[in-house]
Amino acid sequence: MEEFSSERLGRLTGMLKRRGVILPAFEIHGGAAGLYDFGPVGGRLRNRVNQSWIEHWQSLGNIVEISSPTVTPYPVLEASGHVGEFSDFVTECQNCGEASRADHLVEDIHPNADALTKSALIDLIKSHNPECPSCGSSSWGPIDAQNLMFNTKIGAGSSGRQAFLRPETAQGMFTSFTSIYRHFRERLPFGALQTGKGYRNEISPRQGMIRLREFNMAELEYFIDPESEPVHDFSIWNQSLNLISEESGSISMTISEAVSKGIIRHPTVGYFMGWTMDFLTNVGINPEHLRFRQHESDEMAHYAQDCWDAEINGSYGWVECVGIAHRGCYDLTAHENATGQRLRAWRTFSEPRVVEINGWTTDGAKAGPAFRALAGKVKLAVEEMSADSSFPISLDIEGEVVEVLPEHVKRVQRTENVNGEWYVPHVVEPAFGIDRIIWHLLDHSYSETEKSGEDYTLLRLPEAIAPVDVTVLPLYEKDGMGEMAERIHRDLCGRKNVFSVYDASGSIGRRYARADEIGVPYCITVDHDSITDNTVTLRSRDTGEQTRVSIDDLPF
Ligand code: ATP
Ligand code: GLY
Repeated sequence: MEEFSSERLGRLTGMLKRRGVILPAFEIHGGAAGLYDFGPVGGRLRNRVNQSWIEHWQSLGNIVEISSPTVTPYPVLEASGHVGEFSDFVTECQNCGEASRADHLVEDIHPNADALTKSALIDLIKSHNPECPSCGSSSWGPIDAQNLMFNTKIGAGSSGRQAFLRPETAQGMFTSFTSIYRHFRERLPFGALQTGKGYRNEISPRQGMIRLREFNMAELEYFIDPESEPVHDFSIWNQSLNLISEESGSISMTISEAVSKGIIRHPTVGYFMGWTMDFLTNVGINPEHLRFRQHESDEMAHYAQDCWDAEINGSYGWVECVGIAHRGCYDLTAHENATGQRLRAWRTFSEPRVVEINGWTTDGAKAGPAFRALAGKVKLAVEEMSADSSFPISLDIEGEVVEVLPEHVKRVQRTENVNGEWYVPHVVEPAFGIDRIIWHLLDHSYSETEKSGEDYTLLRLPEAIAPVDVTVLPLYEKDGMGEMAERIHRDLCGRKNVFSVYDASGSIGRRYARADEIGVPYCITVDHDSITDNTVTLRSRDTGEQTRVSIDDLPF
C-alpha cells in the first residue's frame, strides 16, 4: 500500500468532493464544521457498508434489528449517565476565541490525555503552553466541562419536555429490552442492533470525517447471563492480531491465546473482536493497518468494565473506529432504578435452592386503602428494603412522596424452595462509527499510478460495497449502439442489488478512467459488433482484462 502523506490526503479529499462521494454539507450557505454529505456516489457506499454490517452480525443467528427515535427524552439520558458524565474539558484561546478540547492540546505530551482530570489538564497546559491550532498563540482561558449532547424540546411552549438528540443508539436497545426479551422467547443470549444517526456537539471538529457532529453509528447490544457465559469457538481465527494491552503493551497474538491468558478479560469481548476484524477486512480495511487497543482503567466510559478499540491507521494516523465494551449490568440497572420497571431475565436453577426470605411486605388491609393506586408500587418498594429498615419512612413513588408507617407493613421471615430467580443480564457492545470506517476504506483503497505518462487513480473497493457495480458505455452514440447500451443499462438496474451507470461522454479511455476513479468493478462496452452478435466487452477494474461475452452471460 502507498505511504500516507498530507499531499496524498489533499488529492484524495479533492477527488471525493469532485466525484460526489463525501463533501462538506450546506456549502452554498457557507457550510458548518463537523457536518458532511454523502453525495450521489457516496450515498450508496454508505448504504452498502451499513447493510453489510447488519448482515454480518445477523448471521450470528440470534440478533434482531430495531430502530428507535433519535430525539430522546431527558430522563432516558439522565438515567443512562449521559446528562452527568458525557462531557469533555474545553478551553478558549484568549487571542482568537477558538474553543479547543483541553486534552487535545496536550495529547502529544501525555499518551492518555483524555483520561486526565481537570486539575491535571490545567497543570499540563500551564507548564507546556501549547499553541492554539487556529492562530498559534499560547494564551488559554479557564477549563470547563462541556456536555456534548445537543439540546432540544419535545413539544412547544412551557409544556414542552426537555430532550436531546441521542449521542449513541445503544439506549434504544436498553429501553426496548422487554420487547426484545419476549421476541426471543425469554432465552439468552441474544442481541439487538441498530444503525442510525448519533449526535455529539464536538468542541473543535477538524480532520474531515473523523470528528463529526452528526454521524452514522452501528451498534449491537448482546445480552448474556453472567452465570452461564456463551461458549465461543475461537479456532476460526488462527491469525495473530496486533494488540495493545493495558498490562502487556504491544503484542501479536491469536484471540484464543489472548483470552486464555486473561489479556482479553472477557470471552465474548474476544469473540466480538474476531467478528469485528472479519467485518473490517471484508469491507476493504487493510489488516496491516488494524490494531486493537485496550482502554486503561481510568480511560473507560462511565458504564464500561473492559473495552477494546479497533484502531485503523490512515492519513490521520491511528484512529479509533470501533469500541467493543463490556457494559456489565450498568444500563439495565440504571433504567430499572429510574423507572421501577423490571428489566431482568429469568434464570432457572438446575436444582431447586432453599432461600431465606428475611424482610418486609405490606399489610394489604391497611396499605391498600392508604396508598390506593400506588399500593402495588409501594409493596414492591417495601419488599426491596432490607430486614434492618425501620418505619416510618418516606418513599418516592413515581415522583410522589408517600409516608409508610409501621402499621402498613409486616415482617416476613421464612425459607422457601425456589427453582429460579430474576437477574439483570450483562451486555457486551460492539459500537461502530460507520463514517470513520468508510473514510479508512477509501483511504486504503485509493491508489495513485501513472498511465501513458499521466497521473491515474483508482479505488480498489471490494465488489460487495462498491457504490456503482457496473458502467455501461456505448463506443459511440450512433448506429444503434447508444440505444443498445441504454437497454442493457436499464435491464441491469432492474436486477436485484445491481446499480448501473450509463456514460456516453468523452473518449472511451476517459470513461474507463472515470469509472476506475470511483471504484466501479466492471465496465461494459457496446460496439459495432454488439449490434450484430449480441456480445459486449466486459472490462475488469482490477486486472484491466477485457473479455467478449454474450449479453445473456453477463455476471450480474
Ligand atoms: P473519540 O475518543 O474519538 O471521541 P469516543 O471514544 O467518544 O471517540 P465512542 O463513544 O466509543 O467514541 O463511539 C463509538 C464509535 O463512534 C467510535 O469508535 C467512532 O467510530 C464513532 N464516533 C464517535 N464520535 C465520533 C464523531 N464525533 N464523529 C465520527 N464518528 C464518531
Ligand atoms: N455506545 C457506545 C458509545 O457511544 O460510546
